[in-house]
Amino acid sequence: MPFIALLGVPGAGKGTQAKRLSAALALPHVSSGDLFRENLKHGTPIGQEAEKYLSRGELVPDAITIEMIEERLAQTDGAAGAILDGFPRTARQADALENMAGGSLRAAVHVEVPIERLVERMAGRRVCREQGHVYHTKHKPPKEWGICDIDGSELYQRDDDKPETVRHRLKVYEEQTAPLVEYYRERGVLVTVNGDQPIEAVTEAILSSLEQEATS
Ligand code: AP5
Repeated sequence: MPFIALLGVPGAGKGTQAKRLSAALALPHVSSGDLFRENLKHGTPIGQEAEKYLSRGELVPDAITIEMIEERLAQTDGAAGAILDGFPRTARQADALENMAGGSLRAAVHVEVPIERLVERMAGRRVCREQGHVYHTKHKPPKEWGICDIDGSELYQRDDDKPETVRHRLKVYEEQTAPLVEYYRERGVLVTVNGDQPIEAVTEAILSSLEQEATS
């Protein structure tokens, strides 16, 4: 089973697409952001350390992030393949993934969205407290206002979705993560899709690009 990594600016729709791809391809969804938020919620040492970076929109140091992902992928359902959402985000993390995935990274999918769409996407994003299911006040509203359709927990706005933190996250992305597009292009595994279309259309575009890759 393969590993598929999703790349894209904050708010590009990586988490939304990762959940859909996970269901379509029967691969676990491994999100570094969700893992950090889960650790934060439970007050673990990783969560305590990560908190100061998340709240500022900075990347958590590579050593902590790589160890956390290694541990997650060592679990039975992650060893054979996964949809990676938000990892890797630096060259060092990408090198670490090459070792972890043992050369079975099938594709790095770059979800491209114009910067001007992101402010609206992040301002409207709501996330459920229990399991991090993602909604949007306009593009993906829950059936009942403020309540998760799936587990009934409260929906909230992420602290790092404040406009000033969003601006900083975009800067961090440009400096540290954008170079990975070239990194994966050089390795022949880059797939680029237009993320500025309805959620279902983005999923179809990713799945058909992956099929084309597999047959080419
Ligand atoms: P993380 O949680 O990974 O945040 P991110 O990469 O900034 O991405 P987002 O979760 O903000 O957006 P997304 O692309 O998943 O979009 P979504 O699907 O939610 O990371 C948070 C923090 O953790 C980082 O800042 C860092 O501190 C730390 N961290 C995480 N990984 C790390 C790593 N590897 N190394 C170091 N530190 C790390 O969609 C956004 C909104 O748009 C939603 O409301 C959604 O409903 C809506 N939407 C989605 N698709 C569409 C569409 N096609 N049309 C209309 N609306 C849409």
